[in-house]
Amino acid sequence: MTPEARLILDRCDELAAISSAPDRLERVHLSPEHAAANALVAGWMEEAGLSTWQDAAGNQCGRMEGATPGLPALLLGSHIDTVPDAGRYDGMLGVLLAIQVASRLRSVDLPFALEVVAFSDEEGTRFGTALLGSRALAGTWDDEWWNLTDKDGISLAEAFQDFGLDPARLPGAFRRPEQLVGYLEAHIEQGPILEDADRRLAVVTSIAGARRFELVMTGKAGHAGGTPFDRRRDALVGASELVVEIERLSKQHEVIGTVGRMQAFPGGVNVIPGRAEFSLDLRAEFDDDRDAVLQAIHDAGLAIASRRGLEFEQHELYRADAVVCDLDLRAAVEAGIRSTGDSDPLAFWSRAGHDGMAVVAVTPFAMLFLRCRGGVSHHPDESVLVGDVAAALEAFTGAVTTLAARHAQR
Ligand code: GLV
Ligand code: MN
Ligand code: MN
Repeated sequence: MTPEARLILDRCDELAAISSAPDRLERVHLSPEHAAANALVAGWMEEAGLSTWQDAAGNQCGRMEGATPGLPALLLGSHIDTVPDAGRYDGMLGVLLAIQVASRLRSVDLPFALEVVAFSDEEGTRFGTALLGSRALAGTWDDEWWNLTDKDGISLAEAFQDFGLDPARLPGAFRRPEQLVGYLEAHIEQGPILEDADRRLAVVTSIAGARRFELVMTGKAGHAGGTPFDRRRDALVGASELVVEIERLSKQHEVIGTVGRMQAFPGGVNVIPGRAEFSLDLRAEFDDDRDAVLQAIHDAGLAIASRRGLEFEQHELYRADAVVCDLDLRAAVEAGIRSTGDSDPLAFWSRAGHDGMAVVAVTPFAMLFLRCRGGVSHHPDESVLVGDVAAALEAFTGAVTTLAARHAQR
């Protein structure tokens, strides 16, 4: 059992070496590193007995037929894009666990086909809108996204072409519900609940709904020495006040609000900032709670701006509403966890977003979480225990065989 877990971790290391930066991991949608990662993953899929293709959205796919060719498929997978300065397990570990499950089941006649998908974009690092790979698969594509641009001004449509993909062929990636049985994903927890409870695995009940915004405060730039405080319209101080208010409101209403990026313009040490651009990531278990706090943040932004002689704007970049995991698939994941000796699996909602939020539009989904050290993620310190990976592989395999047994009875 542990040699397979070690193989999975070695492969995570190999994937982590494919980065656009020499000293840290960053691999974004439709980059040369994405192409290299797809090729590496395709090789591992083939070794596991899957026939492979890259779909029209850049997702790397592999398929193993079931007892008879052409059966609807159970999808297993996760994503292989990363945040800036990422850890090596967020997404990648789920893809490699899925490949290993397929490898284990290659000589079993399953009542469904098994497909592994390495989604091309879950994080949204390059184009600001996340889940582009899984939304393509689910057929919930919005043609307005073609005009999204990255930090170098390259549009999503251009990036598709540079990657060798044809935007006109995107519908080729869409799946139909009748082609699918469901979607299962394994992922590190990205939080401390499992570690604090001294447990290895959990089943996910639902995923928090998230919205992301670009916020802008506009004032007037001026001389840092010559402009008295009562004549300043300092955009960065106004933005900073709102950042503190976002944290206060989020804590008060038990939602999760984060400002992860902020930039002041024109950016001179001796120039009062005339413009501040900053991000907002807002999540909650329930969309109504999230949206109520969003309204409060908006009102606070306007009030701060008016008090300081600034203007405040917010532009939505991304929205994914909360989704609930399917009860049957969840029961299969629980059975898988039980097969590892855990008779009473922990169950809780995911604070992090996952491809299942998009895939659910076309097929039901459920998720398996495994413990990560300190609950740390979106950081190079991400770490997992080899024994936990072995347990996750056992549970993930058990979930698939449980589903197979149920389907065979139908
Ligand atoms: C994905 O990692 C997210 O930000 O939830
Ligand atoms: Mn992530
Ligand atoms: Mn992830």
